[in-house]
Amino acid sequence: MDMLTRIAALTAETLASLWPEAQGLPGAEEIRGLLSVPPNPEMGDYAFPCFRLAKALRMGPPVIAGKLAQAWPHAEVARAEALSGYLNFFLNRENFARETLTAVLAAGENYGSGTEGQGKTICLDYSSINIAKRFHIGHLSTTMIGHSLRRIYDFLGYKTVGINHLGDWGTQFGKMICAYKMWGTKEEVEQGGVDALTALYVRFHEEAEQNPALEDEGRAWFKKIEDGDPEALAIFNWFKDLTLKDAAKTYDLLGVTFDSYAGESFYNDKMEPVIQELRDKGLLVQSEGAWVVDLSEDNMPPCLILKKDGATLYATRDLAAAVYRHNTYHFDKCLYVVAYQQDLHFRQLFRVLEKMGYPWAKDCVHVAFGMVSFEGQALSTRKGNTVHLDDLLQEAIEKALAIIEEKSPDLPNKEEVARQVGIGAVVYSDLSNNRIKDIDFSWERALNFDGETGPYVQYTHARCCSLLRKAEEAGLTAEADYASLTDDESQALLRLMGRFPDVIREAADKYEPSMITRAVTDIAQAYNKFYYEHRILDGEPAEAAARVALTRAARDVIRVGLRLIGIEAPERM
Ligand code: ARG
Repeated sequence: MDMLTRIAALTAETLASLWPEAQGLPGAEEIRGLLSVPPNPEMGDYAFPCFRLAKALRMGPPVIAGKLAQAWPHAEVARAEALSGYLNFFLNRENFARETLTAVLAAGENYGSGTEGQGKTICLDYSSINIAKRFHIGHLSTTMIGHSLRRIYDFLGYKTVGINHLGDWGTQFGKMICAYKMWGTKEEVEQGGVDALTALYVRFHEEAEQNPALEDEGRAWFKKIEDGDPEALAIFNWFKDLTLKDAAKTYDLLGVTFDSYAGESFYNDKMEPVIQELRDKGLLVQSEGAWVVDLSEDNMPPCLILKKDGATLYATRDLAAAVYRHNTYHFDKCLYVVAYQQDLHFRQLFRVLEKMGYPWAKDCVHVAFGMVSFEGQALSTRKGNTVHLDDLLQEAIEKALAIIEEKSPDLPNKEEVARQVGIGAVVYSDLSNNRIKDIDFSWERALNFDGETGPYVQYTHARCCSLLRKAEEAGLTAEADYASLTDDESQALLRLMGRFPDVIREAADKYEPSMITRAVTDIAQAYNKFYYEHRILDGEPAEAAARVALTRAARDVIRVGLRLIGIEAPERM
């Protein structure tokens, strides 16, 4: 049992012995999650906040903390002191070092993993790109947040299903076919890919301004897709292949994969039963010719199900998709990683599912995130101010390569490392803020090797690896003396590593990968501080062995953290 678990268990015991009658006191597991690292070490190594107990015990938090401190009988594990509503623990530093390192090194790259998700399934709808559109940086957040959440849940033992809910339905595809028939050639589109399709679409709109009849023709082509006309379908499926082939390059670079590409068109034949069900349950009402679900009781505009002409909508497809996913995967949770602009859509969707009587509607969650701007400029497709993700990634790789050429000209696999670092920089900058905050991407910030950036954390990992190689060459065989890890720098690093498994769970509960980004950055910084303050290999053998063990543990935890946010960890940089 590691130290945090032990302290949590002892705290639970002490609580129960002090207040045997009290209801609703937290158990050991909950307490473990509540233990935090105080802002400065003089206040202890870990702290248990007593605020949540106030209600159950009808006492002020400082009084509770005081009584707990008085009754605390486990001085051999930690000394406990009360301060402003916190119970602060001062650990036996040597024991703490031994136990934490033993726990990390035994688990290695599985440190912090768990089995709490066993038997549970989580569906994640992320990336969900639109056909015939380039993958631009606005789609980076959904892709990387979804990908990271997936790795986090996998790590905790859940079964995860990654779904790319493609935007492959709508009149725009009729227009695109129409434009292609009029002005496009097969060679042009084959060569130009998605860019050629976009150009056709833009031309369609320009020409339609002069010649409004084109709009009808576009609609007619869309109708043909809907009716399954072989020519229309063949062209449309070809457009879809081109888009997915393009996107696959980006997904490969990012290491992102999906279990399903069932997009909007997949639900063409799955909406009718759902619409019938809405009708049977008396939820469908007519409004200005359209069929809607009234949500005025919930202070929301009505959810549009069928247009006047009988056409289905984005929401209709999402309703069918939710039902399909539940029937197919029996999910315990279905997450939608989509920009906060679609907040109303998802609130309506979940409310309609609830009105239909599906108890699992409460297991559907909109994991919203903020907008991405680029070097201080808002991105807008209409104004042509977009940054394509593959261009951005290529540029990041080139910039990383230039830095590597300068800093480590002798590195053997420069190209590969440049790819890992360039992508790490972009991904890190996307996952470093609380997801709901708008973020601004900046080259300066992303590619810095010193600040709080991906390359900085990767560099720290490589530094640990290099030290471990040297230790190996030196043939260090002594037993570690944990008493040499009782200094402040080693302890600060150990505290962060000890809490890392809890951070993973908190990130999972809050759908917040940035908590892991934060933790892994703190660990890298703490390691570097330790590295600058202490000699590692040239001390006494037992002391060196302990510091090497600490280095190995730091390497393992950083590697786990980076993997959970979808970043690779090169061993040399
Ligand atoms: N394709 C949509 C977009 O790019 C996102 C789809 C999100 N998923 C969903 N089930 N609605 O805005």
